[in-house]
Amino acid sequence: MGIRENIESIRAELEQELQRLDDVKQLEEARQRVLGKKGSLTALLRSMGQLSPEERPAAGQMINAGRERISAMLDERLTTLKARERERKLEREALDVTEPRDLPRLGVAHPTSLVLDEVLSALTGLGFDVVEGPEIELDHYNFELLNLPKNHPARDAQDTFYVDDNIVLRTHTSPVQARTMLSRKPPIRIACPGRVFRADEVDATHSPVFHQIEGLVIDKDVNMGDLKGTLDALFKRLYGDDIETRFRPSFFPFTEPSAEVDLTCISCRGKGCRMCKGTGWIEVLGCGMVNPKVLTMCGIDPNEYTGFAFGIGLERITMLRYGIKDMRLLYEGDERFLRQFR
Ligand code: PHE
Repeated sequence: MGIRENIESIRAELEQELQRLDDVKQLEEARQRVLGKKGSLTALLRSMGQLSPEERPAAGQMINAGRERISAMLDERLTTLKARERERKLEREALDVTEPRDLPRLGVAHPTSLVLDEVLSALTGLGFDVVEGPEIELDHYNFELLNLPKNHPARDAQDTFYVDDNIVLRTHTSPVQARTMLSRKPPIRIACPGRVFRADEVDATHSPVFHQIEGLVIDKDVNMGDLKGTLDALFKRLYGDDIETRFRPSFFPFTEPSAEVDLTCISCRGKGCRMCKGTGWIEVLGCGMVNPKVLTMCGIDPNEYTGFAFGIGLERITMLRYGIKDMRLLYEGDERFLRQFR
């Protein structure tokens, strides 16, 4: 067989093989079998040594030309195979975005947080700024500036967690009103939410750690009617237009006059039920006109400005809002309880 026929039969055989094969690896093996060191075409090139010097150039040319054709054929097939492999890979890895699947278990907001958000959004809607203060507080802000002198019963070690003689865990959020009066000029309109601490035994209505929201308004000509109007607006917004507030005289050292505020029972809407012990009213907060002594100590002239303050127990209104009977449920983190608030 002459060189030309030899080349042609190698090419033809390879061409057939290339049609059958369907991956890149097999193709590279076929390439080696023809063009590799021990390949059939390479062997043909080597055998040229046996030819006479006159025959060699023509034979060399033929073999080189054959090599190029074969290379081109291999490369063309390689391109096709690579494209096909890519397609298969894409098919294999395709994601079906419409396939239904298990959703991750999402957490839920705590009921106390839900009510806090409601109250703060109602208060900010009435023009209050939200201000926070330290939980570990100086005696000076927690008591002294609020007209609770050294011998006041509210400072009793049975109520207050003392860190040392001058530092306490704040027993209410009222120190934030003192801090704000000292740092801002009136008019002031702030809501101060936060944790407070009292040395109480845990039971269905008490916890040594709980939350309050303090409200404070200082401006010219602020009076008790503004206080009543603000609280009315707040609770109507939170619980509905049929809810009313009722003031009862009370005492706080930092307000004068002071009042306890009752709300139409949000469970029976005033008819009388177990939650309101048949009275139709529930007690929700303490409030009053800021004591002129407090204004003076905090650098505000009581002849020029007046103000009111109120302190809401957040746990209390959360329990009322959702009909929760035992405060401990709010702290225990039991999922069966928490998952009900979506
Ligand atoms: N700080 C009072 C308390 O903890 C609540 C209160 C705040 C009363 C503001 C009047 C005015 O009981």
